[in-house]
Amino acid sequence: MLIKSAEFVCSNTDVRQLPAAQLPEYAFIGRSNVGKSSLINALTNRKGLAKTSQKPGKTQLINHFIINNLWYLVDLPGYGFAQTSKKNKADWQKFIRAYLTQRESLQCVFVLIDSRHEPQKIDLDFCFWLGEQGLPFLLIFTKADKQSAVKTDQNVAKFRKALSKWFEVVPQNFITSAEAKTGTTAILAEIDAINQN
Ligand code: GTP
Ligand code: MG
Repeated sequence: MLIKSAEFVCSNTDVRQLPAAQLPEYAFIGRSNVGKSSLINALTNRKGLAKTSQKPGKTQLINHFIINNLWYLVDLPGYGFAQTSKKNKADWQKFIRAYLTQRESLQCVFVLIDSRHEPQKIDLDFCFWLGEQGLPFLLIFTKADKQSAVKTDQNVAKFRKALSKWFEVVPQNFITSAEAKTGTTAILAEIDAINQN
């Protein structure tokens, strides 16, 4: 898919204030610092479209970006940021969960997982919750440039194995690097395919 345009639309915490749910949308979620915003920039080939930071907790709102005037990419705050206060955590749960469960135009949730690590409970729990809610999701393993392809494949296999205890069919996965801009074509092709359906 060719990205002809990619523009920031709005930031929200209130689900009622989101853009009208008339276009298909795709949300990026995962631990703080996993590389959600960076991957959105890599996918759209726009460096500063989504704000990124070396420090976790950068994205705090539900951010809508409109792509080719046809569909939305949604950048979400991360979970599992240790320094977040209890109240912040509770707020996150409330508005993110409300967004994910109530957004009628949400086609697919992309769950980002850091490819450097062994399966983490917080990521597995989040996938489980998505499954419970009946929300369609796909997996993206990020930061693949940081270690060997063999190590990445090992961690991907371990994560898939852990998920297979809960899911009869483990969702498809993508391996990406926002730094090296790898894995982006496959994700855009997948979005294209869903948009065509
Ligand atoms: P929050 O908004 O805080 O939840 O984080 P995020 O998931 O949006 O992460 P962000 O895109 O801001 O990236 C966090 C840090 O990881 C930044 O320093 C990025 O440069 C770095 N980073 C992201 N993706 C990659 C990647 O593929 N490779 C490498 N080497 N670094 C990456
Ligand atoms: Mg972010």
